[in-house]
Amino acid sequence: MLTATKTLPHVPIWRTLYRVNKIADNPIPFLNEGTKHLGDIFTSYIGPRKVIVTSNPEYIQHILQKNNKNYHKSKVVKEVLGSQLGQGLLTIDGDYWLKQRRLIQPGFYKQRLAELISIMTAETNDFCNELTRQVAQNPADDVLKLMMQLTFRIVNKALFSTALDNDKLHRVDYIITNLQKYVITMARQPYLYPWLKLSGKVAFYESLRRETDDIVYGIIKERREQKSAYNDLLDMLINSRYEDTGEGMNNKQLRDESMILIVAGHETSANALAWALYLISQHPEVEQKLLEEAATVLGNRTPAFEDLPNLQYTRQVIQETMRLYPPAWIIDRTALEDDEVDGYKIPKDCILLLFIYGTHHSPKYWKDPETFNPDRFSKENLKDLPNYAYFPFGGGPRLCIGNNFALFEMQIVLATLLRQFTFSLQPGQTIDLQPLVTLRPRYGVQMNIAKRIMATGGQQV
Ligand code: HEM
Repeated sequence: MLTATKTLPHVPIWRTLYRVNKIADNPIPFLNEGTKHLGDIFTSYIGPRKVIVTSNPEYIQHILQKNNKNYHKSKVVKEVLGSQLGQGLLTIDGDYWLKQRRLIQPGFYKQRLAELISIMTAETNDFCNELTRQVAQNPADDVLKLMMQLTFRIVNKALFSTALDNDKLHRVDYIITNLQKYVITMARQPYLYPWLKLSGKVAFYESLRRETDDIVYGIIKERREQKSAYNDLLDMLINSRYEDTGEGMNNKQLRDESMILIVAGHETSANALAWALYLISQHPEVEQKLLEEAATVLGNRTPAFEDLPNLQYTRQVIQETMRLYPPAWIIDRTALEDDEVDGYKIPKDCILLLFIYGTHHSPKYWKDPETFNPDRFSKENLKDLPNYAYFPFGGGPRLCIGNNFALFEMQIVLATLLRQFTFSLQPGQTIDLQPLVTLRPRYGVQMNIAKRIMATGGQQV
């Protein structure tokens, strides 16, 4: 029986109305303010939607794990994101989600990922060779853009092997960026829909979605007709069979799951890597430790699967980067039935925002939360951290399926890039947050990139 007794603190609607556009552009300062003044659970309005915002690890664990069956993805994820990406792991719920998760999970087991490591290293090495030629001509570039290109290439190869050539790759990248803008507008300012429809924008986004459909369906059709094995994720998706029926996925299901893996699987890692390069450029002592670790573990070798556990400091830098700049900065859910957490009532149908960014910056769990300090993630220092005080990949049954893929990929990219190049922030570059579906640096990260001079034996000088 539910016996909720506490009243949720509340931000009155008028406090949000007069700055509705500011909040739509970047809700983080508003959510931080609410947390500071009202505590780690409160209600508010985001656009026309009443929401419960929480950054309390115990409440978050309740929602994502302990009572996860009572919480489904919100309408925005299901309907808006779902209409663009399709009905795949990220956007579905209930029995169908469980069926799909069971089918797809084996593709992300560690031993299966070990086979994808060579794809990650080969793409990263090719990328470094191209970057070497590029920076010889022009050292200035936006590392966010570069990391988007690299992680997109990696996930494309892991999924489709060679099926997307460079032109198609650029086109799909462009389309995904545009569709994301649409999803965000619909999430924060749904009242703009009639205007978007009248101005032809909805038709434009529809045409983009159809274009990606044609590309992805084309790849699936071609693959079904071919006899040869590719050993990539698409082969795994095509060949997997439902336990109950023994049948495989149809083309629509394959399209939807592929689109979701491409989108979920590249932008998150790209943001984390761009933020990491920015932070490292501001902390030469961290860079030095990274270089020493890479020299000790790898010498002159390309990283192999077995090296990854030994690139421990590299992993800590990535973890600390995702604490300060969690690429998935918020998670949303809808309550299916009335529930209660720590004496607070959570009414049926209400929207919950799990404010990852807020938890990761809370002084309750992090000493000097704004300071970049990868040592926080040493085994010794992690001992006392409460569950869900750090959850960049979500948690419970819907934990990110690609978490190990992403961590391996980021270790490889960071270790390889830093051994070959130096990155320095361009003077006057403003670094600001742009929380879209993922947390991007608003103006990119403009850097000067130079080839690092290596002494013989792989020592950095
Ligand atoms: C730094 C990189 C990444 C971050 C921070 C990240 C974060 C997340 C988070 C927070 C969720 C849970 C969302 C929720 O509960 O509502 C999630 C789910 C998911 N992620 Fe990731 N992700 C990353 C990389 C990847 C990669 C590389 C892939 C695939 C190749 C991927 C595929 C997915 C999928 C399919 C889901 C839905 C899983 C389900 O609900 O069963 N992600 N991710």
